[in-house]
Amino acid sequence: MTTPTKTATLTLNDQTYDLPVLTPTLGPDVLDIRKLYAQADVFTFDPGFTSTAACESAITYIDGDKGELLHRGYPIEQLAAESSYIEVCYLLLYGELPTAEQLADFRGRVSRHTMVHEQMHYFFRGFRRDAHPMATMVGVVGAMSAFYHDSTDINDPWQREVASIRMIAKLPTIAAMAYKYSVGQPFVYPKNSLDYAGNFLHMCFAVPAEEYVVNPILAKALDRIMMLHADHEQNASTSTVRLAGSSGANPFACIAAGIACLWGPAHGGANQACLEMLREIGTVDRIPEYIAKAKDKNSGFRLMGFGHRVYKNFDPRAKVLKESADEVLELLGIHNNPTLQVAKELERIALQDEYFISKKLYPNVDFYSGIILDAMGFPTSMFTPIFAISRTVGWIAQWKEMIAEHNQKIGRPRQLYVGEPMRNYVGVAKR
Ligand code: CMC
Repeated sequence: MTTPTKTATLTLNDQTYDLPVLTPTLGPDVLDIRKLYAQADVFTFDPGFTSTAACESAITYIDGDKGELLHRGYPIEQLAAESSYIEVCYLLLYGELPTAEQLADFRGRVSRHTMVHEQMHYFFRGFRRDAHPMATMVGVVGAMSAFYHDSTDINDPWQREVASIRMIAKLPTIAAMAYKYSVGQPFVYPKNSLDYAGNFLHMCFAVPAEEYVVNPILAKALDRIMMLHADHEQNASTSTVRLAGSSGANPFACIAAGIACLWGPAHGGANQACLEMLREIGTVDRIPEYIAKAKDKNSGFRLMGFGHRVYKNFDPRAKVLKESADEVLELLGIHNNPTLQVAKELERIALQDEYFISKKLYPNVDFYSGIILDAMGFPTSMFTPIFAISRTVGWIAQWKEMIAEHNQKIGRPRQLYVGEPMRNYVGVAKR
């Protein structure tokens, strides 16, 4: 636990209270208010956690003003250019970049867990065929605790490790099965000779009737998308996983909770919503109409893929993805893609508009990712499941960090009660 370096003084009702101030490795100081209620009989009020650090963490750091994202200290731009998704998984989970031997061992461990229990195939049949793949994933990942009892004891480090590897390995298989089920095609078993992203493409797009050869351009682009989504410190879904885990719930249940939270359009569901919005805009001449709608509070419409709670300068992941979108479409021989044209023009116009400038709204990770995934052949309904696969390692790393913490407590926020004061019950005949 970080030790306080100084104190802040709070004056309340003519009393003063010393609040310890914790200094992080990077980022602003943090006031330690854990004893505030006991000492001063007050709570703090911070809906949406805009100023509240809910945990200590050594995994990911974001500087929203600089547009900086570090995993275990390494900048995301360097990782996206030089690393691989599986190496980033190792880094997030174990804290250091692996040696060649450690990487080969980790890759081997993940690939030996890619198949799912055969009975899980029957479990899929209970879903309606037109179910959204995210709905299926919430159910199937939650059900993993029924199929893998031997890795649900959170107090056993070995079981925690096995559960972690199982989820990293099986999430792509489950997402691909959800997709295959929704299009009425047979499930495709994983192929361990392929790398992580290539195997996922294979499980999604191969059919028994034809040989499927993974396009290395697509596999590399997908691997990069996965790296860019791997972790993002205490975002809504990660906080959900931590909160669920704080009660001692098993890891599969916690990750299912994370998937459910990620699905929302303000979070991971934005990638699907964003591409649908870009398609709806259709042509650049209609952009002003949508900009006006986004600025009109009564419309209830927001520019999807724009804005971020933490980034107030730019989202470094969006920058990498914008370049990646150009590169991938070029390599695939897709020229003048109308959606990419609309996206770039929308970004240009919005970034010159006083509304977006004053509110510091920039394209986020979801703005360009959908264009690349669409070019790969994924339907929009698979965009958020791909985010979920990629984020699983972040959720697990954060969950493991929490479980291993000394003095770990159940998460239990307080409230500012605004309901009726106590009153006496009145029988129905007298109401
Ligand atoms: N379009 C138009 N106005 C916006 C937008 C937007 N995309 N985003 C925020 N605003 C306005 C908002 O109306 C508010 O205005 P005012 O101060 O006048 O009330 C102001 O900007 C601040 O917005 P907020 O909702 O208080 O900010 P937040 O930090 O709570 O929300 C956000 C962050 C990402 C939920 C929000 O920007 C948003 O809804 N964006 C669209 C959805 C999206 O792209 N989400 C993906 C986020 S990144 C990936 C991920 O986390 O999964």
